Amino acid sequence: MRRYRDFQQHLDELKARGLLQIVDRPIDKDSEMHPLVRWQFVGGIPEAERKAFLFTNVHDGRGRKFDMPVAVGAMAANREIYSVGMDTALENIAAKWDAAIANPIPPRMVTDALCQEVVLTGDALHGEGNGLDRLPIPISTPGFDSAPTLTATNVITKDPETGVQNMGTYRAALKATDRLVVRMATRAGGAGGYQHYLKHQKRGDKEMPCAIVLGCPPYVAFMGPQKLPIGVDELTVAGGLAGEPINAVKAKTVDLIVPAEAEIVIEGIIDTEYVEPEAPFGESHGHVALEEYNMPMRITAITYRKHPVIASYISQVTPSESSVIKRVAYEPVFLHHLREELGIKGVTRVSLHEPLTSLLRVAIIVIAKGTSKDDIWKALHGTAFYRADSGKICIAVSEDIDTENMDAVFWAMSYRMNPTTDIKIVGGRGMGHGPVRERDGEEDGTLMMDATMKADLPPLALPKREYMEHAKTIWEELGLPHLTPRPPWHGYSLGDWLPQWDDAALRAVKGLYEENGRISETQRAKGLKPETKFRPE
Ligand SMILES: Cc1cc2nc3c(=O)[nH]c(=O)nc-3n(C[C@H](O)[C@H](O)[C@H](O)COP(=O)(O)O)c2cc1C
Repeated sequence: MRRYRDFQQHLDELKARGLLQIVDRPIDKDSEMHPLVRWQFVGGIPEAERKAFLFTNVHDGRGRKFDMPVAVGAMAANREIYSVGMDTALENIAAKWDAAIANPIPPRMVTDALCQEVVLTGDALHGEGNGLDRLPIPISTPGFDSAPTLTATNVITKDPETGVQNMGTYRAALKATDRLVVRMATRAGGAGGYQHYLKHQKRGDKEMPCAIVLGCPPYVAFMGPQKLPIGVDELTVAGGLAGEPINAVKAKTVDLIVPAEAEIVIEGIIDTEYVEPEAPFGESHGHVALEEYNMPMRITAITYRKHPVIASYISQVTPSESSVIKRVAYEPVFLHHLREELGIKGVTRVSLHEPLTSLLRVAIIVIAKGTSKDDIWKALHGTAFYRADSGKICIAVSEDIDTENMDAVFWAMSYRMNPTTDIKIVGGRGMGHGPVRERDGEEDGTLMMDATMKADLPPLALPKREYMEHAKTIWEELGLPHLTPRPPWHGYSLGDWLPQWDDAALRAVKGLYEENGRISETQRAKGLKPETKFRPE
């Protein structure tokens, strides 16, 4: 018996923990569903209060009703939901990723699979209400998108030379009841599936088998957006996460293996000769991707469990489900690269900036006190060039900086960074994932900045922690408005501070300022310019 949860068991777990918002009223999947969920990302709701949404009464823009419910935000509307999928506490997620990547477990092949309880082939794929038309696939960005689009996908393809499968989360636009267009990024650092497509083309194959899986067990779903080295079979790493083999089954009409407990599997053949216009579609870099040629896929079968739930990711402008699911996966991999592969132990955290910039542009690395200048610059370069499409702007800060607070990062840049010595700019970067693509060799650059403390500084000028905490209890006794403390909210030493000044401060709060006055009187000096520094013995 497997111990890992499938997608519906994951939804049950979210419900039990109060993380699932069930919507039973009729909802139009084409114009209402994503805008409704979007409000929790743009409506000033704190991340911790975001929920997964389950829509049970779904119709389309023509009023046609569907019997399948749709879940949006169910994998990563926030980090807590992601941690439920990872079946571990938030603080253990990084270690769990590290262990799974180091200890992959191959899948277990089964013949009787949940995801093949219903099999549609032949005529059941063609004509109104059949094939893809049976599935309530939402429109993500109503007003801009040209099609309902699969978003919560694990797209499976196979390397025709090595036989190793790849699984990536790629969007696919509905074009007909039996045709999709899949978009696999062709840029360096883009889609693993595109490398398979190129190999098929090189061999002269006109077709590439493909299976698009919707609603995987969370451990498998999380493999889609994760960046793993090319050639690693993600199902084995999913097994590493689960601590047991993931059940897998042969697809019905293509030579691929798919996770057995998926909700839905769309099997088909990608044309490696012809391309077809796809998009506009609201992209995760925060702009609308305009029409472009992508890969048409002819559907050969749709298989699903008896009462499936459709999964859809909310992406586009960040923060979004797409950025949460990527961030929680990418940050540990970056940190592992810097600490374990490059051996720079002075790096204690990597934070990929999320709101509006979508993770790939700005990376902030946190550096422990005492780390050499050499190591800081190695770490900045390691961050900038680890992935071809990440780390355009890399900033090193000291450990007291809250990397979630850009005011604090600007503070570090303002007082701890000298633009003439602490910045490096280098060229030779592709335009990466964004609204502007490379045109005629156009290239972007990389900005690296050391905004760590280079020497001790005087304390941060806020009352010490114990005074702030005591004042907070008074604040609450007085029934004043609810506080949400944001670091830095209390003063602390930044190295340049003496015990004598602690003693003086303690006397001052005890009302004994005159004693301090008596001490300073003995320290008077003659003939010095005002503002000359004094340090007590
Ligand atoms: C919601 C969502 C949508 C995505 N859409 C695409 C896409 O359409 N094409 C693409 O190449 N990558 C897309 N990505 C990013 C890839 O999933 C990511 O780069 C992943 O590492 C690809 O896996 P691979 O390296 O095995 O190809 C998307 C990610 C998310 C979370």
